[in-house]
Amino acid sequence: MPEQGAPRPRPVFLHSAAQVVTLAGPPRPRVGRELEELGVIEDGAVLIEDGLITAVGPTAEVAAMLPDDVERWDARGMVVLPGFVDAHTHLVFAGDRVQEFEWRTRGLSYAEIARRGGGIRMTVRQTRAASEEELLESARRRLRWFLRHGTTTLEAKSGYGLSRDEELKILRVIRRLREAGPVEIVPTLLAAHVVPEEYAADRSAYVRMIIEELLPEVARENLAEYHDVFCDEDAFTVEEARTLMKAARAHGLKLRVHAEQWARSGAARLAAELRAQTVDHLEKIAEEDIAALAAAGVMAVLLPGACFHLGRREYPPARKLIEAGVPVVLATDFNPGTSPTPSMPMILALACTQMQMTPAEAITAATINAAYSLDRGHCAGSLEVGKRADLVLFDVPDYRHIPYFFGMNTVRAVFARGRLIYDRANGCEGTA
Ligand code: NIG
Ligand code: FE
Repeated sequence: MPEQGAPRPRPVFLHSAAQVVTLAGPPRPRVGRELEELGVIEDGAVLIEDGLITAVGPTAEVAAMLPDDVERWDARGMVVLPGFVDAHTHLVFAGDRVQEFEWRTRGLSYAEIARRGGGIRMTVRQTRAASEEELLESARRRLRWFLRHGTTTLEAKSGYGLSRDEELKILRVIRRLREAGPVEIVPTLLAAHVVPEEYAADRSAYVRMIIEELLPEVARENLAEYHDVFCDEDAFTVEEARTLMKAARAHGLKLRVHAEQWARSGAARLAAELRAQTVDHLEKIAEEDIAALAAAGVMAVLLPGACFHLGRREYPPARKLIEAGVPVVLATDFNPGTSPTPSMPMILALACTQMQMTPAEAITAATINAAYSLDRGHCAGSLEVGKRADLVLFDVPDYRHIPYFFGMNTVRAVFARGRLIYDRANGCEGTA
């Protein structure tokens, strides 16, 4: 809906696209073979009115139902996709970890660097030292990177504060970004990222602090929709995670879990037991656990960017997950330590080349399935009448070109809520 007082935008008729990839289908996450059903319309068109999609179809059909005073956008030779939904990002933090990146090229491992006081704790020190305004400014800049790569909805986690006040500071930055739009942001509390240094001698006191001091405040101020916990080696145990997840659920938060990235810790089992909404990473997941996820209806969020950036050879078993009927999602895991990329097209390329997902499966995982993983399936993730007009135009004539051209941004233009917010041709960045 247009904001109060804002002029009513003109309807937009996007026409003559080589392919409109609609992702139209059943109103639920896609599984198994459904992942390949993209609902492609050749010589396709989309009509946008008041920020919503009001028609999708062949150009000739949509042209017959145009309102007066429509703005035309010729998409000849281009592919139109729903805006990407990035279901796992650590958007808000200060600084970067480029020094550690160089150390890794010289042979130090991520775990060694973390043990020497680097890693997540390094970013925590920098983030605590930054003001809310500084964090807001750097996150805004990053949001523009996401937009330019076609992302119009993203999940954003806290997790670099690790105290009551510092986690609240990050969630308030996320709230300000949510209120500003046009990218839709879904907030997640990740206070249980690692145990902060000051609680090293008494881990349970940190878990208690989250439960007794942080969760009630987060719920009271409505600062997060999801709770996440890094349940892995050098992070939180399954028992700690279970306690945290139950407490978070009691406060009305839905559950996501960082699981089995470094070790088969039992975190995926726990996600199945508690019927979390998603379980993320899964590089080390075992076959029996895959069956448990499928039975519990937990969605798997795969993050190949983290494997790539860390130079790991093992990627999550996407094919086994798909064959078992687990709804699969792809996301960037944008963060300073393991995956500094805002690019969903790059993630699609990695999914195809490193996890043997087909281009069609990868696109479904990055749009409609990702939207369902954030409870946004009703309004985002596909080009269907009544949904938000979040869409991306690519300068290529076939959707398979999107993962095929890796390391190159083929995004030509982005519409969010019906407004053109990025147009590479004239550098327009609108409200973004
Ligand atoms: O998703 N696994 C834990 N958290 C991040 C890494 C964060 C960092 O290194 O700063 C991840 O990969
Ligand atoms: Fe992560």
